[in-house]
Amino acid sequence: MSMFKKKTLLTQVLVLILVAPVLAWAGGGGGPFSAGTFSFIKVGLVIFAIFSAWLIKDKMGIPLPKLIQAPLLWVLCYINFRVILQPPIPFSLLAMYMGVCTVAIFLYCSITASSWEEFSHPIAVMLREDHGTAKMSRYATFLIVPGLIAFQTYNQMLPKFGEPIELRTVHPAPPASINVHKKLVTLQTAENPFRIGDDGNYLKVGDESQYFGGNSWTGDVPKFLQQVREGGVVFFGTAGCFYCHGDNLDGKGPFSFAFNPIPANFADPGTISQLQETFVFWRVAKGGPDLSREAFPWASAMPPWEKHLTTNEIWKVIIFEYWHTGFFPRTWG
Ligand code: HEC
Repeated sequence: MSMFKKKTLLTQVLVLILVAPVLAWAGGGGGPFSAGTFSFIKVGLVIFAIFSAWLIKDKMGIPLPKLIQAPLLWVLCYINFRVILQPPIPFSLLAMYMGVCTVAIFLYCSITASSWEEFSHPIAVMLREDHGTAKMSRYATFLIVPGLIAFQTYNQMLPKFGEPIELRTVHPAPPASINVHKKLVTLQTAENPFRIGDDGNYLKVGDESQYFGGNSWTGDVPKFLQQVREGGVVFFGTAGCFYCHGDNLDGKGPFSFAFNPIPANFADPGTISQLQETFVFWRVAKGGPDLSREAFPWASAMPPWEKHLTTNEIWKVIIFEYWHTGFFPRTWG
């Protein structure tokens, strides 16, 4: 390994060490691993990737063309933001991050004349050479690219039921405290009384993942799943939230298309997974009528459920919504 390469490798490792705390922070808030383990695994994976790239390129002498490196990096970035990063980010943020990554990868490929040459050479060959492979890939490209554009155009023209984009505050600042059934609930400190583990104690946010996918209808059900079941009864029975929010909690219930804005899609990372449980409690208990001025012009059809449900039923349906979607609520910490 030449001196220069040693230096680059060293820089990469140093950058990783600097990035590790950020990753640890990003990995916090639940998941099968604790934040520490999570960042450890992730850093390990990145080091492994760099090591194997070095092994393949410098030791085995197999060069990875820039034209392959670039999309590979892009896909890795996408997997990172879409699957690994917790809590999940909404699409608008994903688009922004991927935009930045695209620019960075483009810079990486074009930073020197030689790297740009390496990146663009295969494209130029494909466009102008006259031998068989170049011709084949030329024809394939000229079929695939217009095909993709046609597909995209078709998809865009297709009528959709989604609500039109409107500039409004989707999650306005909640009040400090609310009165539900003559009891004061302070949103900063309140806890969901049904978030309880097998030992009957409060279940830390994230620890409920052990119950995800569990069957709440079998005989000897853990306490937590009993609450999930009762919350499900509220969702599908007592309250009938599913008429609006849908059987799959995706906001596509039979009534949903009559409303603007349409009912929240809990399966989307932009709703309950961004919110504290107490924020959701406020929204379910008080509905559209209690939305602050900030949320104007918000003609929300969300009913104030305190008029029909007990406080306990509201907390239970919240447990059910998180369990069903597999999301964790935000925490204050
Ligand atoms: C009449 C239709 C309707 C019914 C029934 C209904 N909702 Fe809603 N809900 C809405 C609409 C519309 C919105 C979006 C506007 C808003 O946030 O106020 C909404 C928003 C919400 C939100 C806010 C999500 C966010 O990201 O801010 C929560 C939580 C919620 N509903 C829970 C429930 C629960 C739990 C039930 C059953 C107890 C229920 N809803 C029943 C129409 C309904």
